[in-house]
Amino acid sequence: MTIGIDQIDFYVPKFYVDMAKLAEARNVEPNKFLIGIGQTEMSVSPVSQDIVSMGANAAKNIVTEEDKKQISMVIVATESAIDSAKASAVQIHNLLGIQPFARCFEMKEACYAATPAIQLAKDYLANRPNEKVLVIASDTARYGLNSGGEPTQGAGAVAMMITHNPRILAFNDDAVAYTEDVYDFWRPTGHSYPLVDGALSKDAYIRSFQQSWTEYAKRTNKTLADFASLCFHVPFTKMGKKALDSILTDEISDETKERLTEGYEAATYYNRYVGNIYTGSLYLSLISLLETRTFEAGQSIGLFSYGSGSVGEFFSGTLVAGYQDALNIDGHKALLNNRTELSVADYESYFARFDNLEFNHDIELADEQNAIFYLNEINDNIRHYNTLN
Ligand code: COA
Repeated sequence: MTIGIDQIDFYVPKFYVDMAKLAEARNVEPNKFLIGIGQTEMSVSPVSQDIVSMGANAAKNIVTEEDKKQISMVIVATESAIDSAKASAVQIHNLLGIQPFARCFEMKEACYAATPAIQLAKDYLANRPNEKVLVIASDTARYGLNSGGEPTQGAGAVAMMITHNPRILAFNDDAVAYTEDVYDFWRPTGHSYPLVDGALSKDAYIRSFQQSWTEYAKRTNKTLADFASLCFHVPFTKMGKKALDSILTDEISDETKERLTEGYEAATYYNRYVGNIYTGSLYLSLISLLETRTFEAGQSIGLFSYGSGSVGEFFSGTLVAGYQDALNIDGHKALLNNRTELSVADYESYFARFDNLEFNHDIELADEQNAIFYLNEINDNIRHYNTLN
């Protein structure tokens, strides 16, 4: 019995800001953002894209009419919840037209939550061969203008269809999670922006990775030589690289070091142009890897998930024969290449509009692709979504 990722897709809003220009506007040497943090562009969300619409947009192309009858669970992983009670999965379920006898709920543990969602889906499906689970990771990463975290913002969603006999990646039964109570990044209820201890968050991430990996290697007797490539949670591309480098010690062969280092570049290519999308970052990295490098069926990909607070998890999957046919390389390149650059001044005004929930659909929806879902208005605290025809 194999269970894993049958389909995977992502959505990013149509606006971005150039990191070199943001650095100049902040009187920072551009190479700090471009090289030191490792980000070239950063997705900017208009008010009309929240976690519901982005999640539905990420999923709409991978959910077929047949899938709508078979999906029995929709899980949304997010740390940008728009409601403390109602789950965004319920609204996404409605927008996508999934059959009504389904469980829908939200999961939270900072950037980690999509990973336990996948593990839950895997266990849930074990006794349900004819059902499918839709897992969506959707977030808007906002630290505030002129804040330390500003260059590590972003917005976007990843959708994954978890099924039996998956077409892309079959999960191996090997996940090892590591939990440590640490205040590296958190957002108390009522705060618009997270509180973050940047230096501690980098240390906590690396420690969590080393602990998860070491325990994983001990339990499975696997070494780095067993992996064709590794994917990491990518709050910024330099972060995962630091974690990877920390285990590429002298005992590791040059061939393995080179393979994993080249793989890391491929696995962060999309992230470099999108920025941090919190829960979806690891899975955007997986898409980036699979769409920018070629692998053979049967090869293993290792994945490290991290959520501040903190929980880390190392697990792996095996590539399925013909996995390339299930990818959407041209569609994803078009989505990234057809975005609109915002000047720093415009990015700042978008930021303010987001805080005050001021809609300006003329700008936000101009040149958008057809059939995208968007937040049309909020009336009496109820969010109304439309589809662009
Ligand atoms: N050229 C090249 N690199 C430069 C540079 C330049 N001109 N100037 C600085 N750098 C490098 C620094 O040496 C540093 O690299 P290092 O980490 O390898 O030492 C890097 O750029 C970042 O510099 P730093 O001083 O640490 O930046 P910062 O204090 O502004 O903080 C973050 C950076 C990422 C911690 C901050 O943006 C943040 O808090 N982000 C949100 C939290 C987060 O994403 N945490 C990740 C774990 S979940």
